[in-house]
Amino acid sequence: MAKSINGFSKLPKTEKIDWLVENFCEGSPEAEKVLKQYWNADAKLQQLHDEFIENTISNFYLPLGLAPNFLINEEYLTLPMVIEESSVVAAASKAAKFWSERGGFKARVISTEKIGQVHFKYSGDRIELEKTIEQLKPKMLEAAKPITQNMEKRGGGILSIDLVDKTKELKEYFQLFVTFDTRDSMGANFINSCLEKFAEVLETNLPKEQLTVIMSILSNYVPECLVYAEVSCKVDDLGGDSHLSGEEFAEKFVQAVNIAEVEPYRAVTHNKGVMNGIDAVVLATGNDFRAVEAGVHAFASKDGRYTSLTHAEIKNGIFRFWIEIPLALGTVGGLTSLHPLVKLALDILQRPNALELMKIAAVAGLAQNFAALRSLITTGIQQGHMKMHLMNILNQHQATKEEKKKMVDFFTHHTITHSSVIEQLEKLRANEL
Ligand code: MEV
Repeated sequence: MAKSINGFSKLPKTEKIDWLVENFCEGSPEAEKVLKQYWNADAKLQQLHDEFIENTISNFYLPLGLAPNFLINEEYLTLPMVIEESSVVAAASKAAKFWSERGGFKARVISTEKIGQVHFKYSGDRIELEKTIEQLKPKMLEAAKPITQNMEKRGGGILSIDLVDKTKELKEYFQLFVTFDTRDSMGANFINSCLEKFAEVLETNLPKEQLTVIMSILSNYVPECLVYAEVSCKVDDLGGDSHLSGEEFAEKFVQAVNIAEVEPYRAVTHNKGVMNGIDAVVLATGNDFRAVEAGVHAFASKDGRYTSLTHAEIKNGIFRFWIEIPLALGTVGGLTSLHPLVKLALDILQRPNALELMKIAAVAGLAQNFAALRSLITTGIQQGHMKMHLMNILNQHQATKEEKKKMVDFFTHHTITHSSVIEQLEKLRANEL
C-alpha cells in the first residue's frame, strides 16, 4: 500500500480521490460517493471552491443560520452565523430579542490600528542603527509606494515605523514595529507586502555582515484595533424571565462574570462562549477566525493573567454588561468578493464597512455570553443542550413527527442519555408504550 506519495498535488481531483480511497478507505465505493455527494452540481461554483485551497477533494459544509432581531445602535439587523454547534443560533436570537425590548445594543469602535514587524538581527552599533533607520524611513515609504498608494486614496496606509531594541531579551534582536490603517480590508496581504519592502530596504542599505533579516510578518495581536459593545437596563427589567427576581438575576449574573474575571479556568470557557458568537459571524463574513481567536485570547491575558472578555456591574439600580475586544476584520478583499455565501452574508448585514462589522461581531459575542450566563445561573446549560441532543438522536433514527412528540413528552420528566433515548424509541416502535 502506497500511503505516502510524490506529486500528489499534480494529480487531477478524481485521481486524488482514487488514491485516497484505495489507500485509506479500503477501496470503499461509499467513501468516493460521500466525497462526490458534496461536490456542487454547478461546475463553475465547484471550481471556485476547489481553488480556494490546494489539493481539494470535496467541500465540507457547515450550517449557515440566521439570528434575527439584533437592535444595534437603533438599527435592526439579522446576523448570519456559520457554526456547527446546536443551541448557539437559538441562544443568540433569544438574547437579541431580550435586549431589543430593553434598548438594544450600543456599540462603538475605539481604535483601528494594525501592526506588522520586520524582525532582524544586527550586530553593529545601536546608535548608528537608530540614525540609519531614521534616514531610511523615507526610502522605505517610497519603496512601499506602489502598494500603499491605493490604500492612501482610501484614507489608510502606513501610520508609523519605529525601531525597537530587543537585545535585552535576545542577542542582537531588533525589530521595525510598523502600524497601519487598512480601512475596510483585514489587510494581511497589504501589511506583509509593505513589510517585505522595508526588509529589502534594510538589506540594501545596512552592512551585510551586520544584518540578518529573520522575517517580516503582520501581528495578529491587535490591542489597538478595539471595539466596545454594551447593553444596560434597569435591574427590575431583568426579572420575569426565570424564577429569579430582577435583582437576584442581576446579582447572580455579575457574580458569574466576576468569577470569570478572577478565575482563568472559568474565563476560558466563558470566553469560549463569547467566541461562539464572534466566530460564527467572522466565518459567515469570510474573515480569518484563527487570526481573530489568536488575537482575542492574547488580549484576554494582556495583564499577565487570562481573564474575562466581558464585564458587568450594577450601579444605581442599572445593570450594565459590556465587552471590549480587539477584532481585525475586513469587508473587502479576501473571500468577501469571491465566496457567494459571504457576499450574501454581507448583504444580509446591509453591506457593513469594517468598523460596522467589528461592532456587529462584538455584539454577537456579548449576546452569546449573555445567553450562556443566563442559562447557567438559572436552568443550567444542559436543559437546552439535551433537548437538542434528543432531537439529533431522533433525527438520526428517522423518528416521525408523532414519535418525536411522544419522546419529547417522555423526556420532559426523564434523564436524556444516548442509550435511554434509543431504548425508549425502540419500546415505542415495538408498541410497548
Ligand atoms: C458552550 O459552547 C459555551 C458555554 O460553555 C459558555 C459558558 O460556559 O459560558 C455554555
